[in-house]
Amino acid sequence: MALERHAPDPALAAWLDGLLAPAPPLQDLYAEMAEDEWAEMMTHPDLGRLLAVLVRATGGRRVLEVGTFVGTSAAWMAPALAAGGTIDTLEADPARAARAAAFLERAGLAGRVQVHTGPALETLPGLPDGAYDLCYLDADKTGYPAYLDHALRLVRPGGLIVADNVFGGGALGRPRGQDDARAAALRGYTERAMADPRLLTTILTVGDGVAVSAVR
Ligand SMILES: C[S@@+](CC[C@H](N)C(=O)[O-])C[C@H]1O[C@@H](n2cnc3c(N)ncnc32)[C@H](O)[C@@H]1O
Repeated sequence: MALERHAPDPALAAWLDGLLAPAPPLQDLYAEMAEDEWAEMMTHPDLGRLLAVLVRATGGRRVLEVGTFVGTSAAWMAPALAAGGTIDTLEADPARAARAAAFLERAGLAGRVQVHTGPALETLPGLPDGAYDLCYLDADKTGYPAYLDHALRLVRPGGLIVADNVFGGGALGRPRGQDDARAAALRGYTERAMADPRLLTTILTVGDGVAVSAVR
């Protein structure tokens, strides 16, 4: 029934996984990372594919990402860029930034993706106003409210701000009085994104929750 919200059953999930499975070089990156303790931070193919669609739909000239990790989501988005389009991706951890840069080089995407090493709040103020078609937020969750302030300045009218993990791993389903700092930041982000008159926002029940906001 159309008004129900439900997770796909295992057979449907397997069929979807087959349809969404990445090709090389992303396929190789997921395989290389399979045993890594932080592998679950990689953007899942269902969201990766969604990001690619949104990059293409918004023109794909300039994309901003906060939270590079090993470059998974950047590698999903890069092929969807327009000719000459670029991605600026921000990563605080120098080892992760170097690993992402090496992967992107190997994947032939280094010319389209620039990895900026350092805390995002040090890089964001130097980026140009209204220059971005899409901003994808996927770094430290307590930073989301501040990242939203920057994204509102950096994304052009008609562009999109996409934030991953807005369900906080399920924490947002608990009473707000039980929020820790991470849950409070995610709740604040999402409620503000829904209410801010400069944005038109919806929440997708993809993965751990994805907020998609159009900048008016
Ligand atoms: C969930 S992972 C990003 C996953 C990535 N989008 C992908 O698909 O592979 C979050 C990343 O944000 C980085 N991070 C955490 N705090 C940060 C900050 N203040 N500035 C920039 N990056 C940060 C972490 O080091 C981590 O690599």
